[in-house]
Amino acid sequence: MNHQSPTQVIPEFTSIPRHVAIVMDGNGRWAKNRFMPRVAGHKRGVEVVRETVKTCDELGIEYLTLFAFSSENWRRPPEEVSVLMQLFLVALENEVAKLHSNGIRFKVIGDLTPFDARIRDKILASEALTENNRALTLTVAANYGGRWDILRAMNRAHEQRCAQANESFVFSEESLTPHLSMAYAPEPDLFIRTGGEQRVSNFLLWQMAYTEFYFTPELWPDFGRSSFLRAVESYGKRERRFGRTSEQLAESKGLIADSTSEAA
Ligand code: IPE
Ligand code: IPE
Ligand code: MG
Repeated sequence: MNHQSPTQVIPEFTSIPRHVAIVMDGNGRWAKNRFMPRVAGHKRGVEVVRETVKTCDELGIEYLTLFAFSSENWRRPPEEVSVLMQLFLVALENEVAKLHSNGIRFKVIGDLTPFDARIRDKILASEALTENNRALTLTVAANYGGRWDILRAMNRAHEQRCAQANESFVFSEESLTPHLSMAYAPEPDLFIRTGGEQRVSNFLLWQMAYTEFYFTPELWPDFGRSSFLRAVESYGKRERRFGRTSEQLAESKGLIADSTSEAA
């Protein structure tokens, strides 16, 4: 399914975001503050993921996308990389059946080729098991990079062009976006980054053209339900203008209100 692009069509939206994307940062510092090994922070982080999925489901948020491992996280010490991989595998083994029984669709985006075959197989099986579920879509970004995503989409669009021998081909939003790794979802409405850093760190570069940003110093393992609700509340107060003026926005809302009252 193709979702509308906010640079092409002004989207409709409500005070609850349809799609929330999160950089779950601060696990290491959380553990360090408690004189614990970094892995303790990552473990605690998995519990917060569980809670966040539940909250999103309750609020009727349709897409939750979590940055679990960036294409630059391979630069970490090998022991930490291997612990993160193990945790990922354990989480897949323990959580996917529960996600499925709750009607949640599970997806992974990122370059899976360097992963262990066990992880890759488990990911593919989990995606296949849950593909027809229609509650929340939970996407985990693993070995994901925004630049990787855009370049892959360009190469795929180019390949398609060659296969069709289409001489008049130009790169455009329409030719590129179906090849992006999140083509199945609308673009994020709300981006949350915990841990105090105010940067994107190569997350969904293309897809966040009109996303509302929410940065918080809270560390991911502390980011429970009430923190998540605060972020959603902040989102609900934003004025999403998509290039227009405030006055135009008020006018368009008035028109929507008029047409509903006429219909009633
Ligand atoms: C985020 O927490 C988790 C991953 C990147 C896998 P960090 O591990 O980056 O925690 P800090 O930033 O060192 O506190
Ligand atoms: C971003 O966190 C990636 C994930 C949360 C998976 P990092 O902790 O790796 O980001 P930087 O290095 O501080 O930008
Ligand atoms: Mg970090």
